[in-house]
Amino acid sequence: MSEKHNTDTNAKDRGSLEKAAMQDEHIQDVHAQLMREKEEPQEGFSPVPIFLMFIFAALCFWGGVYLVEHSGGYRWDAYSPDFNPSAGAPKPVEIALFDRGAKVYRNQCAQCHQADGNGVLGVYPPLVASNWVTGHPQVVSRILINGLNGPILVKGSNYNGNMPAFGSSGLALSDKDIAGVITYIRQEWGNSASEVTEATIAEYSDLYAGRSVPWQAADLKEGLGPIPELISPMVEELTIDGEAATEVDVN
Ligand code: HEC
Repeated sequence: MSEKHNTDTNAKDRGSLEKAAMQDEHIQDVHAQLMREKEEPQEGFSPVPIFLMFIFAALCFWGGVYLVEHSGGYRWDAYSPDFNPSAGAPKPVEIALFDRGAKVYRNQCAQCHQADGNGVLGVYPPLVASNWVTGHPQVVSRILINGLNGPILVKGSNYNGNMPAFGSSGLALSDKDIAGVITYIRQEWGNSASEVTEATIAEYSDLYAGRSVPWQAADLKEGLGPIPELISPMVEELTIDGEAATEVDVN
């Protein structure tokens, strides 16, 4: 105890110690005096000084800014030798409309029209080689968006059932899914009609958003707009499909 205090004492204390050392009882007094002046050592924690917290926060902030500026956009190839930051991020793989449609078909249509698209004679009409499918894109789009009921003739057989709506008034598939499934049924099983884009379906969806009743076969041929133009080599075939659509009238 006394040793510790001897090392800690300052010049002034040392002066009084020297004086006190002359008499033993004074030493006791001086020690008691020193004990009173010195803070008792304590156990436990003392709070971190506030300025340290600020410095720490500033460091964290700077670290974040540094990371964002030097991380190469968090790209997986940022550290490869031929990384080119101006090349833009790698594009996510877009699923082709047809493949998307194949999936939608399996989930939404196959239970009625069957996986092979041949339907069930007299109950669910076939989609294979059906003019309703491969004709004017607006016809098949109407059927998908608002549904269909009443008598209909498909490939020489009569049907009279209920086809559910898949647009916003029904099962509410996205425009992309509807475009996909239409493209799929127009191009699968030997069908070879044009694809129908998401933009086209978006347009038709807006057009028929207010319609809450399903189509009837007779209305389907009324008031068709021009066949939407496609920026693809399918344009030639579109004319043929247009003729196919007129064949529907003969049915
Ligand atoms: C609940 C059974 C059912 C489901 C599910 C169904 N359909 Fe239909 N679909 C029918 C019926 C029934 C008709 C005939 C309606 C009538 O008689 O007026 C029909 C008619 C059609 C037609 C016009 C006739 C033809 O055969 O060309 C097309 C096109 C069609 N459906 C496509 C689809 C597509 C695509 C899907 C999936 C997104 C689908 N359907 C889901 C029952 C269904």
